[in-house]
Amino acid sequence: MITWFYQALANLGYTHPLHPPLTHLPTGLVLGAFIFAVAARAMRRPNLALTGRHCIALALISVFPTMLLGLLDWQHFYAGAWVFPIRMKLGLVFSLIILLFAADVQGRMVQRKSKGFPTIYILCVLNVIALGYFGGELVFGTRSPGGSGRLKDRPVSAEQFTKNCSSCHPNGGNVIKPNLPLRGAPQVTDFSTFLAYVRSPKARDGSETVMPPFPADRLTEEQAKEIFDYVVAAFGGR
Ligand code: HEC
Repeated sequence: MITWFYQALANLGYTHPLHPPLTHLPTGLVLGAFIFAVAARAMRRPNLALTGRHCIALALISVFPTMLLGLLDWQHFYAGAWVFPIRMKLGLVFSLIILLFAADVQGRMVQRKSKGFPTIYILCVLNVIALGYFGGELVFGTRSPGGSGRLKDRPVSAEQFTKNCSSCHPNGGNVIKPNLPLRGAPQVTDFSTFLAYVRSPKARDGSETVMPPFPADRLTEEQAKEIFDYVVAAFGGR
C-alpha cells in the first residue's frame, strides 16, 4: 500500500520524501505565534495576541498530517528502522502536541487578562527547533561530506543514488547501522561484488538485513553501475 502510494507519486515525477516540505507549516506557525505574542506585548496591541493564538491553533491542526507523512516516509525510506533520530522525533512530536494544547490555554488566559506573556510559546519554539535538528540529523547524518571534491573529476550522476540509497546512506554513512557505512565498504571494491550485494543484501553474519534487495526490475544493471560510479567518486572505493 505504502509502496503503491510512493510509486504513484514517482510516476508523476515526485520521488522525494513528503514530510520535510510539510514541516514548514507547524514550524512557521509556532514561530509566528511567538512573534505575534512578543509584538502584542511590545506594542500593546491585544489583537496581535489573538493572531498569535490563531497561529497556535493552526499549528496544532497541522501537526497531525505532518506526523502522518513522517510516519509514511519512515516506513518507506527507512524501512521503519528504530534509528536514534526517529525515536527522538517521536518523543518530541508528542511533547509538541501537549505543549500546543497548553499554549492554547495559556494564550487565552493572557489575552483575557490583557497582561503577562504566554511563556509556553517559548517552549513550543524550542520544541520545533529540536524536531528540525533531529530531522537534519536523519537526512544529513553526522558524517562530513568529505571527498565530494573528487566528483569534479568525472561526470557521474547522483540521481539513482539519491532515489534508491541516500535515505539510509546519506553522505555515504548508514543511519540504521552507523558502524557499516557505505564509505569504504568492502562491497565497493569492484562492480560485480557491488551488484551481487545490492541484488541480495545480507548482514555481515549472513542473516536478514533491513536493507531491501534491489532486483533487476527495481534497479537495472545500468542504474546500479551509475550508483557504483557515483559511490566510488563521491565516497571513494577501498
Ligand atoms: C532501508 C535502508 C537501506 C536502503 C534504502 C539501502 N541500504 Fe544499504 N544498507 C542498509 C543497512 C541496514 C546495511 C547494513 C547491513 C547489515 O545489516 O549488516 C546496509 C549495508 C550496505 C552495504 C554494505 C556495508 C558494509 O560495510 O557491510 C552496501 C555496499 C550498501 N548497503 C549499499 C547500498 C546501496 C548501493 C543502496 C541503494 C541501491 C542501498 N544500500 C540502499 C540499509 C539500506
